[in-house]
Amino acid sequence: MKILVVGGGGREHALCWKIALSPLVEQVFCAPGNPGIAQCATCVDLSVDDLGGLAAFALEQSIGLTVIGPEAPLAARIVDLFQAKALRVFGPSEKAAELEASKAFAKEVMTEAGIPTAEYARFEDAEAALAYVQDRGVPIVIKADGLAAGKGVTVARDLSAAEDAIRDAMTDKVFGDAGNAVIVEACLEGEEASILAFCDGRTVVPMVASQDHKPALDGDCGPNTGGMGAYSPAPVIDAAGMAEIERTVLQPCVDAMAARGTPYVGVLYAGLMMTDAGPKVIEFNCRFGDPETQVVLPRMHNDIVPIFEACCDGALDTITTDWDSGACVSVVMASGGYPGPYEKGIAIEGIEAAEAFDGVTVFHAGTKSVDGAVVTNGGRVLNVTARGDDVVDAIAKAYEAVGRIQFEGAHYRTDIGKKALNRANA
Ligand code: AMP
Ligand code: GLY
Repeated sequence: MKILVVGGGGREHALCWKIALSPLVEQVFCAPGNPGIAQCATCVDLSVDDLGGLAAFALEQSIGLTVIGPEAPLAARIVDLFQAKALRVFGPSEKAAELEASKAFAKEVMTEAGIPTAEYARFEDAEAALAYVQDRGVPIVIKADGLAAGKGVTVARDLSAAEDAIRDAMTDKVFGDAGNAVIVEACLEGEEASILAFCDGRTVVPMVASQDHKPALDGDCGPNTGGMGAYSPAPVIDAAGMAEIERTVLQPCVDAMAARGTPYVGVLYAGLMMTDAGPKVIEFNCRFGDPETQVVLPRMHNDIVPIFEACCDGALDTITTDWDSGACVSVVMASGGYPGPYEKGIAIEGIEAAEAFDGVTVFHAGTKSVDGAVVTNGGRVLNVTARGDDVVDAIAKAYEAVGRIQFEGAHYRTDIGKKALNRANA
């Protein structure tokens, strides 16, 4: 079978890498891909928003399965379009993808299904939102309703920060139409973790837990980013916690979407706060997490292709997953200045030397090939990923590999995985 992966970051590199290991696969294509992906897939010069071009390519090449990485094409109906052309595609329909595309919709589904989440109110009027915030007090969380590339959330510790967030989103429209409405919700306290789960519209098969590191600097300081690193397993979720998440979050969500006549097929990503009162949902995403995927898939023993097929065919109840008992850690090497403005086109040295370490894979997130050399081409540049016997081993290997890679201005956190270590030591 030929498989097409849509996207061109670290998540899609990990997906292509895993898919290419399948004996069922004759060729992997990736649109648009990147120089790292080019080592395990054939890159196709089509952007993720060229839905017509992607469908035409899939038809022309007799692609047996297309796997969608990012949320934007899902929200733009790529799955509906492919299905209308009788193309097999892994991902949720536009209606199901609304779980990520509209935070208000996600909250509605959670309320309906009794899924634990922060108490909230939705506003289309800035003055009403401001009055509610003044009444509730701080800390409080302000979220633009629509897709804002991960930047639409403010955890406000004082009133002026909350008021600024409401004005930015609703009056100054810094997120465009995504800020036409805002959600104001209670601030949850606890440790965060992510669960990615395969869904076929009815059955849920969770993957192993992982934890992202969103703030730019060590100790969870500095501005929020798309994610500076990840590790799996996340010991904050033990076996009982996982069972509770399946029972109170994942299955009720999939059941509610089926009852609405918009069954959820694809990966359901639950961003969770592990509070003293149990797991609560911070957000749902309608796709694999980035960089969570880079630490989850290397731990998967299964061939991933039959799992994708089972999701598309409503046969996920026939699948049992099997995971490596060790740990995986991924350190993001970012451009100097990220998540603010940064330069592109800077030469990168040492990727091969890093990959020479046993258990290390360097997934490319934002790179480009210029005259045969790999240069930086994004904020998050590389995901230096290591498997180890345990988290201590995986952290040591990942940072040893990071030490072999240089590019001017490179920035990375030095404490990826530390929360897991602290738990192990406690
Ligand atoms: P999101 O884009 O929804 O993932 O939110 C970004 C980050 O904001 C999350 O990873 C959390 O750290 C934080 N956050 C969002 N909602 C809440 C909440 N209700 N309570 C505390 N922190 C939150
Ligand atoms: N790691 C956060 C996300 O994928 O949305």
